Amino acid sequence: MQLLALSGSLRKESFNTKLLHAAGECLPEDVRFVFADCAGVPLYNSDIDKEIKPEPVAKILQAIVDCDGILIATPEYNYSIPGVLKNTIDWVSRPAYKSVLVGKPTGILSAAKGPVGGAQSQGHLRQVFSATLTPVVPSPPFFLPMAQDKFGEDGRLIDDAVRHRLDRYLKDFIAWVTLLSGRG
Ligand SMILES: Cc1cc2nc3c(=O)[nH]c(=O)nc-3n(C[C@H](O)[C@H](O)[C@H](O)COP(=O)(O)O)c2cc1C
Repeated sequence: MQLLALSGSLRKESFNTKLLHAAGECLPEDVRFVFADCAGVPLYNSDIDKEIKPEPVAKILQAIVDCDGILIATPEYNYSIPGVLKNTIDWVSRPAYKSVLVGKPTGILSAAKGPVGGAQSQGHLRQVFSATLTPVVPSPPFFLPMAQDKFGEDGRLIDDAVRHRLDRYLKDFIAWVTLLSGRG
């Protein structure tokens, strides 16, 4: 199985990117974890959305085709998802109802500095994925509140309770991706 990791933050010290790296450490050996990069994706403009895509977009499109599931970690910006993530989703959402996102099993994590852990951004992201016909894993959501207290100087997760919850989420996610991809 191959999972595509996508962070909604471009920040070098992003808690969401660190959370994805922590997720990568929880995976079984037979699951490959590949990172996609939203950096460099131009602002969506249908004038430049031609058959030949800008290179950063073409790379993400191919990575989505190649993966069995997508794992996103998103920050919350003003109670929603960052423009960077929405812009990338808009690019890969065309043509409508026939895009690479249709039917692609997806998991959503969020990390935020606040006490709610990005819950509102997850609601908005789910709504976006209802437009792209992208199924989101039907398991209890994973939020990481007070993310600034959860990672060590080396960027690794230092909270065992969070790691336990993350591990649980990933087990559910992998079992569900297995089911949907007919691998089980
Ligand atoms: C423009 C902006 C808006 C933000 N809005 C929220 C918000 O609505 N809720 C929240 O919990 N944190 C909010 N934050 C704080 C983020 O949780 C914090 O910056 C977090 O570190 C972003 O994730 P990252 O570390 O992966 O970049 C906001 C930050 C920025 C820069």
